[in-house]
Amino acid sequence: MINKIQTLSGYFYDYQKSVQDPEHFWSRIADAFYWHKRWDKVVEWDFDGPDVKWFKNAKLNITENILERHLFLLGDKPAIIWEPNDPKEDNRTISYKELYEMVCQFSNTLKENGVEKGDRVIIYMPMVPETAVAMLACARIGAVHSVVFAGFSSQSLADRINDCEAKMVLTSDGNYRGDKKIEVKSVVDEALKSTSTVEKVIVYQRTGQEVTMTEGRDIWWHDAIEGVSTENKAEIMDSEDMLFILYTSGSTGKPKGVVHTCGGYMVYSCYSFQNVFQYNQGDVYWCTADVGWITGHSYIVYGPLLAGATTIMYEGVPTYPNPGRFWEICDKYQVNQFYTAPTAIRALQAYGAEVLKPYKLDSLRVLGSVGEPINEEAWHWYHDHVGKGRCPVVDTWWQTETGGILVSPIASVTPTKPSYATLPLPGVQLAILDNDGNELKGNSVEGNLCVKFPWPSILRTTYGDHDRCKQTYFSSFKGYYFTGDGVKRDEDGYYRILGRVDDVINVSGHRMGTAEVENAINEHPKVVESAVVGYPHDIKGQGIYAFVICDMEGRSEENLKQEIRVTVSKIIGPIAKPDKIQIVPGLPKTRSGKIMRRILRKIASGDTENLGDTSTLLNPDVVDDIRENVI
Ligand code: PRX
Repeated sequence: MINKIQTLSGYFYDYQKSVQDPEHFWSRIADAFYWHKRWDKVVEWDFDGPDVKWFKNAKLNITENILERHLFLLGDKPAIIWEPNDPKEDNRTISYKELYEMVCQFSNTLKENGVEKGDRVIIYMPMVPETAVAMLACARIGAVHSVVFAGFSSQSLADRINDCEAKMVLTSDGNYRGDKKIEVKSVVDEALKSTSTVEKVIVYQRTGQEVTMTEGRDIWWHDAIEGVSTENKAEIMDSEDMLFILYTSGSTGKPKGVVHTCGGYMVYSCYSFQNVFQYNQGDVYWCTADVGWITGHSYIVYGPLLAGATTIMYEGVPTYPNPGRFWEICDKYQVNQFYTAPTAIRALQAYGAEVLKPYKLDSLRVLGSVGEPINEEAWHWYHDHVGKGRCPVVDTWWQTETGGILVSPIASVTPTKPSYATLPLPGVQLAILDNDGNELKGNSVEGNLCVKFPWPSILRTTYGDHDRCKQTYFSSFKGYYFTGDGVKRDEDGYYRILGRVDDVINVSGHRMGTAEVENAINEHPKVVESAVVGYPHDIKGQGIYAFVICDMEGRSEENLKQEIRVTVSKIIGPIAKPDKIQIVPGLPKTRSGKIMRRILRKIASGDTENLGDTSTLLNPDVVDDIRENVI
């Protein structure tokens, strides 16, 4: 097992070692895993390519490190505890041994249905243990999984299927979310009308709702696994073979497929999990994310299971059937480490501390936060009311592209500070650059957050378009990985993330490209042009504000706005629906025709007075109109 950092001086010691001799540092950690063949070189890298290889030429299978490696000591220990949406339904506990059998059986099922090493498999499923089984079965046979959050629209799903040319889709009949039953299979059916690569669809029965099964293509999960062997020999993978693709939004174009590979991701997801959360054998850990996001990949499935942890998977929403549900689950399973997003904290905070009264919450030791900046008020509420002042809050900063947490306190080791992600994990060499690319040394500086040395789970490419990876992450500042975030390093050397510096907005911890939302809005036949910006939102962190030029003929303003919302929901998914839509006569543009988003951002945030010099605009008059009619 990996040695955990236990003291602050231990952290500084490890950090120093990891910078002085990264190869030695990471090889000692990697030695805790089972490899069929050891590496020839720990790391080889060039950010210009970019070309990064960790544990070069080593051979492994990540699922042997989750399953076989734990069977002897932890075979009967719960690996996954599943809590259903409806508290009246039975929960499920799956031991490491049972998980092993389920994964082996489904690995064989995938193979029997034509999936081979290297094939891409889309997973569009609810939060049930079978989703984790599906991911691990893909990893076991060397197929590349791409999980798509089951709230995305058929068009978003089709785009992803087409981009990675998936051979199979794993899905469910439907999905429970609070008091709603959600269509899932019918969304897949719709998506498959505009794709041509999918040969088989395996459907897990969750809700029992009626679905259409296409003969020769669609099979029920329970039929597919019936009588299939629960023994399977894992495929031996190269350390740099692809493990999964996860699509994420950027400032331009359609979402891109971030690629993670086997060896480095394994080592880093496990190392960061054990250290940040200080997981001890016997603890019960719960991360409330959905497996459709990177947090679910690294900190519900891979990191915890690699560490032999008990990980809770919760199907529902924080407020169903009442706003005490999260705390009820914490008490029910005696949760020790709890990891959620600021948006959920703020939403629950709004119900008042009264809601917490019936619960003891005395098993909690560590509270985690992820996905967006946590404001001080929410931080204090979390710390004081949920953690009763006893539990450190680990504000973990990272991204889909980083694969694992890069900046965070180590629980009970690093002194915390509200709203600060504090210090980088060992192995993470941060740099703050000004807009001209100069590295700002020392403390009390603010600028663009970059990383100057690879860590093991850095993205390797964007699927099918390596140049896009280079342009997006490695070209803004030569020789550095650029995160897209602004950051401040304070007088103590602590890091505070200031938010995105590009056209990406973060709504309830979900990342969205403004261009992506604009393109969806523009699909409405009456829309002439649109501009989308983020604005501060009490619960969601950021809300989506859309300024839209429309041809109003034959429509009332309210109807049109409603239609625009439906259009966005259909094209991307309900999470991208604008919170505010303002119909405008024009958009402020520079003489070269570029939309002045800076002005729109200010107006949307309610700061309508200090817009700076607008006289050089092509159309200064529209600013007055927009300002007067701001929502
Ligand atoms: O802006 C940062 C914000 O979320 C972005 C990454 O989004 P995504 O790839 O969807 O991954 C989210 C879960 C890891 C970052 O560029 N972000 C994430 N964590 C934090 C954060 N902003 C501030 N503080 C955080 N702890």
